[in-house]
Amino acid sequence: MNTERTKENPVHTDDTPAGPLPRITVIGTGYLGATHAVCMAHLGFEVLGVDVDAAKIEALVDGRLPFHEPGLSEALEAALSSGRLRFTTDFAQAAEFGDVHFLCVGTPQQEGSEAADLRFVDGAAAELAARITRPALIVGKSTVPVGTAARLRGLVRSLSPAGEDLDLAWNPEFLREGFAVQDTLHPDRLVIGVASSRAERILRQVYRPLLAKDIPLIVADLPTSELVKVAANSFLATKISYINAMAEVCETVDADVGVLARALSLDERIGGRFLRPGLGFGGGCLPKDIRAFQHRAREIGAGSAVRFLEDMDEINARRRTRTVEMVRELAGGSLLGVRVAALGAAFKPDSDDVRDSPALEVAHRMQREGAEVRVYDPEAAENAQRVHPDLHLVPSLGDAVLGAHVTVLLTEWDEFVAAPPEQIGRLVAERRILDARQALDERRYAEAGWEFRTLGRPVAPASIEIAGRRAGGGPTVDRERGDREVWAAAAASSDREAQPARL
Ligand code: UDX
Repeated sequence: MNTERTKENPVHTDDTPAGPLPRITVIGTGYLGATHAVCMAHLGFEVLGVDVDAAKIEALVDGRLPFHEPGLSEALEAALSSGRLRFTTDFAQAAEFGDVHFLCVGTPQQEGSEAADLRFVDGAAAELAARITRPALIVGKSTVPVGTAARLRGLVRSLSPAGEDLDLAWNPEFLREGFAVQDTLHPDRLVIGVASSRAERILRQVYRPLLAKDIPLIVADLPTSELVKVAANSFLATKISYINAMAEVCETVDADVGVLARALSLDERIGGRFLRPGLGFGGGCLPKDIRAFQHRAREIGAGSAVRFLEDMDEINARRRTRTVEMVRELAGGSLLGVRVAALGAAFKPDSDDVRDSPALEVAHRMQREGAEVRVYDPEAAENAQRVHPDLHLVPSLGDAVLGAHVTVLLTEWDEFVAAPPEQIGRLVAERRILDARQALDERRYAEAGWEFRTLGRPVAPASIEIAGRRAGGGPTVDRERGDREVWAAAAASSDREAQPARL
């Protein structure tokens, strides 16, 4: 049994016999589940994807993804043609088919509360367990409040005809949108939370192909494994908010957070990743995870330990307010009747996700202040329009900037970073731009006669020259490494080499 302690298991000690491959189901075929199902089929397993949403299943069977994720469409196609990946809406079929059932359903923030909504996790686990009649393992991958796994383990055993032959483990997922395939097949680490040696053995067998690639495996108890995920996301959110707090300080004394961040990043103990100042974090994970963590911590009497996360959330929110303020300043004090080109709606590039998107919120707030906002996003237009039917989404960068009095970069898509300032300059009414993501080449904009502003930096850029950095500008985003969070020079020294998103 491995219930009492948390230990790090070097993969070299893995002597699990190969045996026949377990058959896998993936319950929930959203972002996480679809990626996991495709990748497990790629690794050679027979996989059945399950969802209650018949339209979603129909699309997947046809090889269509309901969201944008680089490389995943091709991988889905390959998995379907291999015959190893199938989909169903039928829980009975899933219970009958699978030896290992991965739970990949969402845990969104509850309406009117900071807590995670566990309806889908509880529902899926119960639906499945009631139909499982033989030895099997349910493996939760969703991000849940600590204590959920132990509770669910009891629940599924009590509901299932298999009783004690049904076990439950936890295996948090760390994949980033935009790098989902890469993060699933080449993760930094695998974490499994188990309450029995049998569960550990089965999971070692499932992940044998990854363990063979020397990916570190952490075997933990159930609560530790649940905490790893929220602790990781809280740390990342804190790092981003930390540098954005420094941006606030810089703004009050006319200092330059770009130079400051670069200097910090060259300290190997600090590192440059997730230290890019700007509009802050959004998306379906970081914001709701730090809130759910605070809520859960209060419930279990550890609220004061993570109270600082409230500040991190507030710092993050203030960046959105500051961005609107700076656009207003650039517009001469009022947004009323000002035409604004809003570049980006997704919470980050290479994603069509607009959940808690800083870009979308800023665009909408500017519109509410009376600006005539035109929003362009290469992938997220449809989702943005659904959330804000009143926003004016346009089909191209040219349409967005045409006649604009102020342009604001909100999501650092390649298309925006690469756009020639001179060319955009010919379309706008006035050459004024706010780079809210520290992604544009300030010198080129200045040369093309633009008034250029960015968050956390004085109006006139600091005249400090640093090798490898664009004059007066932000980080060098190294796309080859597939990682936007890298301040190139610092990263070269200490960060892992990111793999291209491929199978
Ligand atoms: C995150 C975690 O990284 C991932 O491990 C977890 O599984 C899910 O949550 P994701 O939501 O895909 O992944 O986005 P991530 O790449 O982490 O970016 C989060 C937000 O932080 C984005 O809005 C991004 O623009 C912002 N960000 C990131 C910054 O503002 N500055 C940075 O330096 C890095």
